[in-house]
Amino acid sequence: LGQKIHYFEEVSSTNSVAKEIAASEEEGSLVIAEVQKVGRGRMGREWISPHGGIWMSVILKPGIPLRHASRLTLVAGLAVANVIRDMGLDARIKWPNDVRINGKKVCGILTEAKAEVDRVDYVILGIGINVNMELKDIPESFRAGSTTLKVETGKHIRRVSFLQDLLFELEQQYIRFKTQPFSQILNDWLALSDTIGREVKVTTPSRIIEGKAVGVTPDGALIIRKSDDTKEEIIAGRCIYARP
Ligand code: BTN
Repeated sequence: LGQKIHYFEEVSSTNSVAKEIAASEEEGSLVIAEVQKVGRGRMGREWISPHGGIWMSVILKPGIPLRHASRLTLVAGLAVANVIRDMGLDARIKWPNDVRINGKKVCGILTEAKAEVDRVDYVILGIGINVNMELKDIPESFRAGSTTLKVETGKHIRRVSFLQDLLFELEQQYIRFKTQPFSQILNDWLALSDTIGREVKVTTPSRIIEGKAVGVTPDGALIIRKSDDTKEEIIAGRCIYARP
């Protein structure tokens, strides 16, 4: 991954640029920018992307069924969490895609796929990491639940070496994804997730589901046990912990 890098000082969104060029790119190409003007988060939200972060999108062509594309979100979350843990920080994953340190978000992942019938043509793995920003660089309305690697370590982080480590780890996990049963990655993901066992409230475009998070399906859907003891699987949504 990252054999070919498209670097920009400023873009709308690296995911949007990656989508435009994906059809003619080799697998593994990277789009990366210093600043995103219209950084996109999940569920139509805005993603604040000032100088100092890592805003990147990796183009993958795994040739998998579309229903398995969400697994790549877990693969990316695991890779990011592993690299941050290697720095000595206690990174945890909140379903489906937030990497957090001490309960504060340091990274978000936006996976977008294009499919022909049921096979994906490509998957864009968009990864945003708050690296060298100070909290004051993050608008007040987003600040409460966020942190940065610089804030957590008290040190300036060399973004290029962080990126090298991340691409290496992402490639290792991607190779595992393609060659081994997904249950292995899922087990590693579960070991780093702080969602399972918690009371959660998950908001989807159509409704709100409350209950206890009891597991994740092989496709990455969250399994919730509701108060009437029935279980429900949620493939995408916004998850809030009832207790911090
Ligand atoms: C989320 O947590 O809601 C997902 C945030 C994803 C942000 C990254 S930054 C690089 C890529 N380009 C975007 O516009 N979004 C993703």
